[in-house]
Amino acid sequence: MAHTTLMMIKPDAVENGHIGGILEKVTAAGFQIKALKLTQLSKNDVERFYEVHQERPFFGELVAFMSRGPIVAAVLEKENAVSDFRTLIGATNPAEAAEGTLRKLYATSTGENAVHGSDSDENAEIEAAFHFAGRERF
Ligand code: CMP
Repeated sequence: MAHTTLMMIKPDAVENGHIGGILEKVTAAGFQIKALKLTQLSKNDVERFYEVHQERPFFGELVAFMSRGPIVAAVLEKENAVSDFRTLIGATNPAEAAEGTLRKLYATSTGENAVHGSDSDENAEIEAAFHFAGRERF
């Protein structure tokens, strides 16, 4: 059965010209793009998207980073999409990310780590609905 996950290519990776490289690796890994857009989040948008992290010491840094420039949001479909995509992304800290993972290739630090992937099927649907209207999903 096909599952979905929500990807964001974060401002650092967009600034560094990695949109094409990341989308190439994502599709080569067997994910189908079911929704896609270039957009910019306001500080309030980021505060809502990352609400579960609001008590963390890095929350202010996260809000400033994620709202500083455009991101790419996408809904991806594949069997076991959430766990397979997290494997493709690699560890939060790029220094600990496995060879060939997106964060090993494109991330610069734990905070500025190039790509987001949902952590559960339930959150994937919440996050997809955050970014996309029904008519933008295929
Ligand atoms: P993401 O997987 O999108 O989910 C939460 C984000 O918070 C994470 O990626 C990082 O961008 C950020 N983050 C997590 N841990 C830290 C940290 N220790 N310092 C700064 N930012 C962090």
